[in-house]
Amino acid sequence: MFNTIIRKNYDEVSSEAFKIMKEVVTGKKNAVLGLATGSSPVGMYKKMIADHNSNGTSYKDCLTFNLDEYVGLPKSHDQSYYTFMHENLFSGIDVPEENIHIPDGSAADEKQACIDYETELKKHTVDIQILGIGSDGHIAFNEPGCPFASETHLMDLTEQTRKDNARFFDGDIDEVPTKAITQGLASIMRASKIVLIATGANKAEAVYNMIHGPKTESCPASILQDHKDVTVILDEAAASKL
Ligand code: F6R
Repeated sequence: MFNTIIRKNYDEVSSEAFKIMKEVVTGKKNAVLGLATGSSPVGMYKKMIADHNSNGTSYKDCLTFNLDEYVGLPKSHDQSYYTFMHENLFSGIDVPEENIHIPDGSAADEKQACIDYETELKKHTVDIQILGIGSDGHIAFNEPGCPFASETHLMDLTEQTRKDNARFFDGDIDEVPTKAITQGLASIMRASKIVLIATGANKAEAVYNMIHGPKTESCPASILQDHKDVTVILDEAAASKL
């Protein structure tokens, strides 16, 4: 079942997501936060930083687990998700570096890095998982066709996803990595609560398929139809096909 919230614009969407995040963080001292990269959560991250600065909301006992990381970019690359998370969130709040978990996209043994990440993730229950959605219906980097039973694994990125993400690489698709380490769909489904943020008309079809389409591996996000606590926060454009 989806709890769907529709707001006028990205700022209002970000405020709704932030409200839920703050409830979780203030309601449980050592909350485990599942975090995403991409454009969708950035507004919420800005609000978390502003709230931390003005109200002192603390993340010092939180653990964080990110969804995914590009393979082949060093952590220091300006488009690695490690850099993205530090620039957009971690540098502005008080979560200790040792509490932060992001898959290791530059590991010599990529398969082992996937096993290690899933093993660590399984020691905890994610209290709130933030998600965006790809225009092809992917969540994390689980592309269409990815098994619902998947755990953290290596994924070849589709042409569509690399095209969508080229905007972060000066518009040059050849610069976008071809592979990522990603939490699997089964890993994501273990979270107690899921908040999915989607804005813009290019997400409308994927949002429709997630909520009203058949539950099928060709729309990875449709697995969320089976989750007990999913809030989908949309602007009017992303909700336009509902
Ligand atoms: C990022 C991630 C991806 C994005 C999705 C939407 O960690 O897991 O699934 O959430 O590609 O990206 P944006 O928000 O940039 O439209």
